[in-house]
Amino acid sequence: MGIYEKLARYYDLLYNRTEDVPFIIELAKRHPGPILDAACGTGRMLLHLAREGHHVVGLDASSDMLARLRVKLEHEPEHVRRRVTLVQGDLRTFDLSRKFQLALVLYSAFTELPGRSDRALALTKLASHLETGGALVIDNFFERSSMHPGWGSAVRDGRPHHRGDYPSPDETGIRIRCYEAARFDPVAAVSTKDVILQYLEPDDTIRNVDTITATLYYATPEEFEMEVRSVGFRHVDQYGWFDFSRLYDPATAEVGRQITVATL
Ligand SMILES: C[S@@+](CC[C@H](N)C(=O)[O-])C[C@H]1O[C@@H](n2cnc3c(N)ncnc32)[C@H](O)[C@@H]1O
Repeated sequence: MGIYEKLARYYDLLYNRTEDVPFIIELAKRHPGPILDAACGTGRMLLHLAREGHHVVGLDASSDMLARLRVKLEHEPEHVRRRVTLVQGDLRTFDLSRKFQLALVLYSAFTELPGRSDRALALTKLASHLETGGALVIDNFFERSSMHPGWGSAVRDGRPHHRGDYPSPDETGIRIRCYEAARFDPVAAVSTKDVILQYLEPDDTIRNVDTITATLYYATPEEFEMEVRSVGFRHVDQYGWFDFSRLYDPATAEVGRQITVATL
């Protein structure tokens, strides 16, 4: 069973962030034309883009995530819905028989691919769906070591850390307390993260617990740039945040974002 069969119902509750939206809207202006949101999930970015007037194809492997997005689309005005096409498919094998100006793989979706050969398949597919001059944006989390000072070691030591309390999406009065426990293997460059969800009654007693385990596979910025270039991207920039700031300061940064913008 894929993790999104379970995670889909909590995804918008836990991961509804917006700090990357202005960055992606800016890139959409620089690369006008239809957009491919690959691994679009529940449409976190796709809906912003469609509301801004962009035509977007959303591709995702998970029928559960796409089902959530379809329900959200039903609440959008007709002119927004008409700009959106959804397709179920895998990053490594999809074929839409058309090309885009901009392709996105956001919020660490790319790190769910288990290793270099799967990344190569996906990068080849993404490149083949871009026009010459078109851009690919891949936003990944990255880690370099599990043994370093700062918040990276604090959250990657395998112990559960409180992420937040959220109202239950299905039942009034019930809260969901979320903990995350992450372990990072710096040799394999693999991070394993348990998302632990406790259902709390109004008097704080725990009714039941749901645990979802995600495994994320990292490439260093240097490796990833080579992988991206090897499928034909000629210009590759990597940024550390959604303000086009530099990737990282090797003297201090061990964890952060690794935002790749590659053009053909
Ligand atoms: C962390 S969510 C990110 C969703 C969305 N991009 C966002 O920014 O909120 C990861 C998504 O990637 C999808 N995914 C993971 N592996 C995939 C693959 N090989 N092909 C297509 N989708 C995949 C999952 O189904 C899930 O919806």
